[in-house]
Amino acid sequence: MVANAATRDDLALDLVDVTKTYSGKVHALRGVAMQVPRGQIFGLLGPNGAGKSTLVKIITTIVRPTTARGTVLGAPIGHRPTLARVGYLPEHHRFPQYLTGRQCVEFFGAMSLMRRPERRARTAAMLDVVGMAAWADRRVGTYSKGMQQRTGLAAALVNDPELVILDEPTDGVDPVGRREIRDCLLAMRDQGRTVFLNSHLLGEVELVSDRVAIMLQGKVERQGSMAELTHDSRSWRIAIEGAAPPWISELGATAAAAPAGTRTTIDFKTDDLAAVQAMIDRLRAAGVSIVGVHETRESLEDLFMRLVRDVDGRAKAVGAAQIGRGG
Ligand SMILES: Nc1ncnc2c1ncn2[C@@H]1O[C@H](COP(=O)(O)OP(=O)(O)OP(=O)(O)O)[C@@H](O)[C@H]1O
Ligand SMILES: [Mg+2]
Repeated sequence: MVANAATRDDLALDLVDVTKTYSGKVHALRGVAMQVPRGQIFGLLGPNGAGKSTLVKIITTIVRPTTARGTVLGAPIGHRPTLARVGYLPEHHRFPQYLTGRQCVEFFGAMSLMRRPERRARTAAMLDVVGMAAWADRRVGTYSKGMQQRTGLAAALVNDPELVILDEPTDGVDPVGRREIRDCLLAMRDQGRTVFLNSHLLGEVELVSDRVAIMLQGKVERQGSMAELTHDSRSWRIAIEGAAPPWISELGATAAAAPAGTRTTIDFKTDDLAAVQAMIDRLRAAGVSIVGVHETRESLEDLFMRLVRDVDGRAKAVGAAQIGRGG
């Protein structure tokens, strides 16, 4: 424990084992372990119903966990005073439409027990950060969806939090609005905050996150930096003129004819550069014309889809075994 103290201090979230079974026996979280380093943007990805919102509601003490081992900003999960150092934008949040943006953000400051002068100053500053200063005194009912989300970001930042938790911040926001929100997230990180981003939008998470966790059916299937997650999936794509020689399959490569043309693409999955050179030499020795060679990696989307298929397959196999035993 003592040996790990220094690294533990570098973690904004250190979840060791978090479970949640809702009444009705819905196993929303089945033993979540997750480490979120301070000062980074961390993306939690998962399909609908994976348990992402349940997890952030446990971190923010809105939902009572079934079991929870771990820490939030160094304090045990559920320690309410720590929430003064946490900012939170809930999913599907909705401000009262008759309040102005400024009033909404100030209200969040009041809930964080900020004193009035500080609350006012921070509200104005945060509305400026999210680009809503000019609209601050208009009613929320007149805002677009993107403007409402940006006002939500200002509210999540008003108490100057070390950790900002955002549940689907770009939900329903158009591409321009998403871009603006993305810039806000990067600005938060530049200010030294930790950003925890829940999303099912892969491309978006890929664009801003330093680290990513993929959650499926209440469990974290993978977590790490983008490079770590896609490290095992380096492959080389060699484009050639004409058909591929049959021996490439012996080397573990596959070939696909380019649509409408005389070219073929050879996919060679390896981390070994020498093996790639040997493949190229052999192709050239066989008189094959090479028109291009480039490195590819599995995208986050490919990895995500592969994990979803694996987990679904596993669930079906368990189900079939149970039915088999039952029969
Ligand atoms: N209050 C509740 N009572 C019972 N079951 C719930 C409750 N809230 C969530 N669930 C169930 O828990 C599981 C996880 O839900 P959760 O909202 O955490 O998923 P999510 O990953 O946030 O999904 P989404 O991407 O749709 O927001 C789902 O099966 C959901 O139906
Ligand atoms: Mg959710």
